[in-house]
Amino acid sequence: VAAVVPADKLDALLETRARSRPFGVGLPDLELLPWRILERCLARRFRAMSAADALLDEPRGAPLLRRAVLHHVAVARGVRATVDQVFITEGSQGAIDLCCRALLDPGDAVWIEDPGPLALRAAVRMAGARPVPIPVDEEGLCVHVGAHRRRGAPRARVAFVSPAYAFPSGARLTLPRRVELLSWAAKAGAVVVEIDYEGELRFDGSPLPSLLALDIEGVRDRVIHVGTFSRALFPGLRLGFMIVPPALVRPMAAMRAASTRSPPHLLQAALADFIDEGHFARHLRKLKQATRRRRDLLLAELGRLLPGAVRARAPAGGSVLTLDLPAGADDVAVVQALAARGVDALPLSRSTAARPRSAPRAPGLILGFGAHAEPALLDAARTLAAVVAEAIGADARR
Ligand SMILES: Cc1ncc(COP(=O)(O)O)c(C=O)c1O
Repeated sequence: VAAVVPADKLDALLETRARSRPFGVGLPDLELLPWRILERCLARRFRAMSAADALLDEPRGAPLLRRAVLHHVAVARGVRATVDQVFITEGSQGAIDLCCRALLDPGDAVWIEDPGPLALRAAVRMAGARPVPIPVDEEGLCVHVGAHRRRGAPRARVAFVSPAYAFPSGARLTLPRRVELLSWAAKAGAVVVEIDYEGELRFDGSPLPSLLALDIEGVRDRVIHVGTFSRALFPGLRLGFMIVPPALVRPMAAMRAASTRSPPHLLQAALADFIDEGHFARHLRKLKQATRRRRDLLLAELGRLLPGAVRARAPAGGSVLTLDLPAGADDVAVVQALAARGVDALPLSRSTAARPRSAPRAPGLILGFGAHAEPALLDAARTLAAVVAEAIGADARR
């Protein structure tokens, strides 16, 4: 197979990168991707497509990708499951949508992390359920608050949690809290949906494996593990997966058969080859090194440039960090001022649940740092520091 990416195609792809502005959240670095290998995998599958492939219509997704995914998460995340339990979805959001529709009735209480991703909260609301924000601290989700009769929702149906690191704070759920979460779920008869955004991109300390690796009775019946290829490859791929308890396989497959069925088979087959031939693991190693370097550089630069009242929190992994602004600062206005200077960020307050007037939401900025190489990051850090200093009435350092 002549697998050369035409130069104009690569240029067009990289132009998108120019449009993905520094500190945009959830964007990969397209320059780090092995485009030629991806193209070769896709072209080869297209040429070799058989009638059986053309007619394949399995609501859980292509068996060869389900096997590849299972092998990958077994090695990378310690997940123990069978291929029967694996579903290929349209990114993690596709899995979340299925979980909401399969598990929730209108009015059900659902734990979500606070702060946490807006798209998750929206999906829970769309199912007619009631998201109950549970605070996240340095040890991850405050399970005791969730289980508290007045402050939480002890009888919630589902808890959506990102144990590897919560978005956007980067907090990792500690082992005691993992055990506490699973024993709450067993008592409440709840399902825990573990969303593993960037679970493999851990830099400091040893990675805590998935909840599905814990040797706790009943864990296999209570936990759905969700992953995505959006962060490590690219979001337009729209491929992710979920691993569901054995008892949920049939109802979930029936629901899938009556909705989107499965992502395009050809794409799934190409991704399966990409994983099976070791390209994905190699790419992840490269990505991890690059992302770690960028995090270290950015933190050092922000530490040097930012006024003392602003604190950057070092994430232990992933490609997102948060900056705490002084109380009373208007993070939405800061984000707007940054946008006018060509730099993206998200306001932390918007990812946080509403608070009583007496205790307003803490302002801050959410910064993605995975998509750009060092020179662009340093430039953006200088712009950021100047804009933030002006907004809070402090002097920028140089
Ligand atoms: C924190 C976070 N990570 C990753 C994603 C990517 O979602 P998907 O896997 O559906 O592309 C999202 C989407 O909302 C998100 O909120």
